[in-house]
Amino acid sequence: MSKKQLIIFDTTLRDGEQSPGAAMTQDEKLRIALALQRLRVDVIEAGFAAASPGDFAAIQAIARELTDTTVCSLARANAGDVTKAGEALKLARRKRIHTFIATSPIHMEMKLRMAPEQVLESAVGAVKLARQFTDDVEFSAEDAVRSDMDFLCRIFEAAIKAGATTINVPDTVGYSIPGLWGERMRQLIERVPNADKVIWSTHCHNDLGLAVANSLAAVQAGALQVECTINGLGERAGNASLEEIVMAVKTRADVFDVETRIDATQIVPCSRLVSTITGYPVQPNKAIVGANAFAHESGIHQDGVLKHRETYEIMRAEDVGWAANKLTLGKLSGRAAFRARLEELGYKFRSEAELAEAFARFKDLADKKHEIFDEDLQMLVTQADAARSEDRVQLEWMETTSKTGTRPIAKVALNLEGEIHEVQAQGDGPVDAVFAAIEKLIGSGSKLLLYSVNAITTGTDSQGEVTVRLAKDGRVVNGLGADTDIIIASAKAYINAINRLEVPISAHPQRTFEPVP
Ligand code: KIV
Ligand code: ZN
Repeated sequence: MSKKQLIIFDTTLRDGEQSPGAAMTQDEKLRIALALQRLRVDVIEAGFAAASPGDFAAIQAIARELTDTTVCSLARANAGDVTKAGEALKLARRKRIHTFIATSPIHMEMKLRMAPEQVLESAVGAVKLARQFTDDVEFSAEDAVRSDMDFLCRIFEAAIKAGATTINVPDTVGYSIPGLWGERMRQLIERVPNADKVIWSTHCHNDLGLAVANSLAAVQAGALQVECTINGLGERAGNASLEEIVMAVKTRADVFDVETRIDATQIVPCSRLVSTITGYPVQPNKAIVGANAFAHESGIHQDGVLKHRETYEIMRAEDVGWAANKLTLGKLSGRAAFRARLEELGYKFRSEAELAEAFARFKDLADKKHEIFDEDLQMLVTQADAARSEDRVQLEWMETTSKTGTRPIAKVALNLEGEIHEVQAQGDGPVDAVFAAIEKLIGSGSKLLLYSVNAITTGTDSQGEVTVRLAKDGRVVNGLGADTDIIIASAKAYINAINRLEVPISAHPQRTFEPVP
């Protein structure tokens, strides 16, 4: 019997971007959108058009560029939001408006301060208006998990009547458990009139670590769309992770009567790209995309796998794209090969000057590191994106001294809006000293929320990929840096975060510049 298609709705660029510090630039969003298209996701939620002019422009750019994927914008259930979504999506080959309103008593009373009837009316109005822009309209009942079942049935019935084509049931706060969530989906499909005229969708958050399990239970109960994100990125504990859903359905084809269109070999490259751009590292033991997901440590397991792979492996690493860790280019590779490989990886240079700049960085890296892998190339262009010539703060040079029994010293020279300043500082370690030196010059007053180092590839000559998360006045940003020297990578990441914070560096007259002796 042929299987039904499970629609994969990716919300990395919308719900995923709501993770602290994961805000992305328009170019970064476009690169991820193109990678998601290569992955063959069915719908990309590109943003929330009414949230900001930046979100609007990013949705427009993605809508213009994508050819094979439906592009979607989120909209609250009001005329202003829906109209903005419709305008942002104007040029999309395939477009969807996703409108939502909260339906739980706690959200309606405490947040919206609206009566249930007003909520229902807003939902109907928003769906009707959305249908004037596109035939593909999704309606979500926010906090459906804590909503009254009778009210949910009524609002979904009304939304279908008003023209919604997809009905999404979110576990907004990650509260459900698989048995209950599957049962809720089953009852809704049974009870809502005209349920068979729409696609039922599930959207689960991971507060109890059950987002994937709950989503799969909903699929078994009849949902034909799952909303998810790459690496499970998202608000708080994140959303259901796309790679886990896709591989569960594929690996347990004996259990699920659905299949996806996803090209699974694109999973790992896409995961790496999202991690690099957002600065959210993937934990090594994360299913499918973690560095250890296919590593066998114990002798018994290694022996078993060598004798017969399936003894301990239920999936093949290469089927989800792990073969990507292959040698691509070397010191003698030319500019054409460099450009061609990056184009295969989905990166398009905007100008010859940008290509020349990235190629020069590649040659520098090839001098330090004999083998250049796809991951290095990806980091190299992301770095080129991260550190721009117009940045107000740039690293000129730096030097650190560490000796047992003494406090490390960092000497740093920064180019601050065209002027070179040098300073030195001590710290508990060389990285601490470098950050202290940079702060001495910038005086940003920001708070360091996260510092993490990852090896991009294997081996001691691997580049270190550093993420620095800074907070200032309620804004949170991630900075990225990569280098074969992790102290330099750390300085680059800190400076990248400072540039993203856009602190008024000229407004620090108390700053003292110390020439380095
Ligand atoms: O978690 C949620 O409820 C959402 C909705 C907007 C679908 O993200
Ligand atoms: Zn959500």
